[in-house]
Amino acid sequence: MSGKTSNEQIIGLLKGKSGFISGEEMAAALGISRAALWKRISLLRKSGYAIEASCSRGYRLLTSPDLSVEEIRNAFSPLQGSIGREVILLDRIDSTNTYAMELASRGAPEGTVLLANEQTGGRGRRGRIWVSPYGKNLYMSVVVRPDISPRDATVLTFLAAAAGATAIRALTSLPVSIKWPNDLLVAGKKLSGILTEMKADMDRIFHAVIGIGVNINMERESLPEEIRSVATSVLAETGKIRRRTPFAVEILREMEKRYRILREKGKYPLLEEWLSLTTTIGRHVEVTTGEGKITGFAEGIDEEGMLLLRLPDGSLRKIGSGDIAYGA
Ligand code: BTN
Repeated sequence: MSGKTSNEQIIGLLKGKSGFISGEEMAAALGISRAALWKRISLLRKSGYAIEASCSRGYRLLTSPDLSVEEIRNAFSPLQGSIGREVILLDRIDSTNTYAMELASRGAPEGTVLLANEQTGGRGRRGRIWVSPYGKNLYMSVVVRPDISPRDATVLTFLAAAAGATAIRALTSLPVSIKWPNDLLVAGKKLSGILTEMKADMDRIFHAVIGIGVNINMERESLPEEIRSVATSVLAETGKIRRRTPFAVEILREMEKRYRILREKGKYPLLEEWLSLTTTIGRHVEVTTGEGKITGFAEGIDEEGMLLLRLPDGSLRKIGSGDIAYGA
């Protein structure tokens, strides 16, 4: 094995065997001494891996932390595509989006993924807070540098919403749908939200960050009172605690597929897919915008992802940002 020995390589070796793997075999494969290997194993234990050590048989992986940066890195080869090229896991941060924007402006490569176990200042759309308790949910931001007009930036949110819905459906069998522009809903309640931010001028996006939060193991009772009637989690819907790693991996894989489509075929296939997953179009809705509430019939979206709302007086209004409530 060439290059620097990484924790991912150690975890890869341990996961490759269902039983023990000898220290000698591991050290030889990694090109390090057995003493150095022991040190690395001790560090991995500190970051949440339960690794059994036996003098005669070697090492055996018993359990992995529920959000494992090594497993996520191992799922993405740097050669595969851009997303997942670099993966960073922080224990606590104000907001993964804020920090990812900072990293991006300092030149972080496209595809850098930032995850945190807790956000102390998680942000939602329209200045709202995103409840982000320690170790419960997924808080993830991805740096991208798409070659698209800033007017088309909504397609990044659509791409992430479709990726999230597809990944969560596959992992949980929950009937996840999309509410314009970016809410992932189950049984009418919000399971996940997406916040896309960017640095751009009139014609060019310098970098953008797509942030996604998924409520995974947050108990119904621990949802703050004010959002309990409108929010949910995978645990609340299925009664099962889940590891967060597969959610991160699957969402990133699905994002990568769609990001490639954007590069190779443009935005239209993504707008089409979004339309097939949304429950907003073709119904009467109430939209809260910066200017107040408007009700109307959601006829469709335009080429930039704006909502086309037919008003009671017959006129058509294009809405770029707002919160939708479904009428009875
Ligand atoms: C919304 O629906 O209002 C958007 C919610 C976005 C939340 C995610 S969690 C990871 C990333 N960091 C943040 O501060 N926000 C996004």
